[in-house]
Amino acid sequence: MNRLNILTFPDPRLRKKASTITSFDEDLQKKAEDMLFTMYEDKGIGLAATQVDIHERLIVIDLSEDRSDPIFIVNPSYEVLDDTQEISKEGCLSIPTFQQEVPRAKEIELSYQNLKGESEKLIADGLLGYCIQHEIDHLNGKLLVDYASSLKRGRIKEKLTKMKDGKNKG
Ligand code: NI
Repeated sequence: MNRLNILTFPDPRLRKKASTITSFDEDLQKKAEDMLFTMYEDKGIGLAATQVDIHERLIVIDLSEDRSDPIFIVNPSYEVLDDTQEISKEGCLSIPTFQQEVPRAKEIELSYQNLKGESEKLIADGLLGYCIQHEIDHLNGKLLVDYASSLKRGRIKEKLTKMKDGKNKG
């Protein structure tokens, strides 16, 4: 398995819209495994393909403490079952050091395909529901910073740009 490079804000590639996956082959399996490995290495609970510069509708999520319960989600869409807006405080591997409170639907029904291309459904609320909504935002080019004030967004942009410049020099 390979550790993939995670794009960080304000990289414009994070704004690309991911396309529908039509081939459920070994290549897809490998991408999914590399993404899962990368997510575990970076101690994330969810990762969207967009974040590793793969612009296809693929997400990996694992909320388990011992990292033993991954869900591979291909071509996701969801319906809101309960549109009560709950406030979820979220971070993102593509926006290090940043946290943002985001309104998320309380309960959703996710429709997706597994890595074999079989259709699946999942009813999700709480952290799993928020995580799915967060990762689908990524596939649509939407980021946590979009929920922040322009002042806060400007600050984190400046901070991360400086961090990146420092890395390139060092
Ligand atoms: Ni994220």
